[in-house]
Amino acid sequence: MPQMRINRTDIPDADIFEILLDNFPDIIQSVDDGGNIVFINAKAEKLLGYTRDELLGMNIRQIYAEEVLEALEAGFSDLKRTGDYTVESLIKAKDGTRIPVEIRSFGIYDDNGRFLRTFSILRDIRVIKELRDGLVHAGRLAAIGELASGVAHDINNPLTVVLLSNEMLTRSLQAGKPPAELPVEKLQGWSRDIGKACKSIQKLADHLRGFSRGMAEKMEAVDLHDTVADALFMTNNKVMAARVTVESAVRKGRHYVTGCPNRLEQVLVNLVGNACDAMADRERRDLKIAIEPEVRDGTAYWRCDVSDTGGGIPPEHLDDVFQSFFTTKEKGKGTGLGLSISRGIVGEHKGMIEVRSAVGQGTTFSVLLPQAGA
Ligand SMILES: Nc1ncnc2c1ncn2[C@@H]1O[C@H](COP(=O)(O)OP(=O)(O)OP(=O)(O)O)[C@@H](O)[C@H]1O
Ligand SMILES: [Mg+2]
Repeated sequence: MPQMRINRTDIPDADIFEILLDNFPDIIQSVDDGGNIVFINAKAEKLLGYTRDELLGMNIRQIYAEEVLEALEAGFSDLKRTGDYTVESLIKAKDGTRIPVEIRSFGIYDDNGRFLRTFSILRDIRVIKELRDGLVHAGRLAAIGELASGVAHDINNPLTVVLLSNEMLTRSLQAGKPPAELPVEKLQGWSRDIGKACKSIQKLADHLRGFSRGMAEKMEAVDLHDTVADALFMTNNKVMAARVTVESAVRKGRHYVTGCPNRLEQVLVNLVGNACDAMADRERRDLKIAIEPEVRDGTAYWRCDVSDTGGGIPPEHLDDVFQSFFTTKEKGKGTGLGLSISRGIVGEHKGMIEVRSAVGQGTTFSVLLPQAGA
């Protein structure tokens, strides 16, 4: 947006605007160069619980949550320089309630281009956030639906081991042989097999439970190696059924980001699933996962590439694949939510998801996430 130049005395002060502004569903505020609130509408009183007089004596920094103050300062400098700024942030009401908001700000400058003040619209996005989180959860549940049949299959293998070993044990006992006469090694072997099989069933169950857990996950240090390994563990059945060869060059303990492990796994699960689907009818079915460092606009990212040798995406569909409900899969095979949800998740991690594809050759989806501590 070009810088809006306006003489201060020209700002209309008519009652009609006052009425409009006070009935506006969002907070409208104006802040001077030092961050002091010089104008604010009635919505702010309702949302924040302060009187307008109190607010007019306050600095903008007092109504934002402590954890966003640093980002707020950076945004304020950006805004003065570029003229406009849109961001999601967190404000704090008088009673301490934290309210997520979307802020749209623009700067006002005098004829000499000197910054005078900002005007901002702050929209309460609590409901939008809830819906968005609900959508992520719905996507996860849909993924679980698909994964469940695979997991049931995976559970079957160790379960067969348990049943067989148990059967051998029972038969030996029924045959009248006291356990003491059985070679100890045999007994140890059966018991070891049962233990191992039970452990892998437990791992699968734990994993599925973790994956399906709802929201309120806290951000933590995540080794992308583990995310990739967990996603491959969850999609193992799909990968095997599609007879896809997996090559993962991701080493442990090298690629740390800050994030929600389950959500990042959800992104990878969908990418691996999509790659398997894309290669279903291909002769070469190679899935490659690699992580490389990449710097963009001064920020250091880890770029996780998931590449397949599928049929590719036609150029006219490259943008569509991230749209909700865009799918080329038959009914019951895909909802078309995977990539749009993934884009939301990656965005929440201040990252990006991109695609490169060559029809007839294959596709690479890249997930870029800021390196932890960067
Ligand atoms: N690796 C890929 N190769 C070719 N096409 C792809 C690839 N990944 C995604 N697509 C295309 O993008 C569409 C959208 O993918 P997305 O993951 O969002 O939904 P979906 O897989 O169809 O359904 P689901 O909601 O179950 O994930 C797919 O239907 C497919 O047409
Ligand atoms: Mg998908």
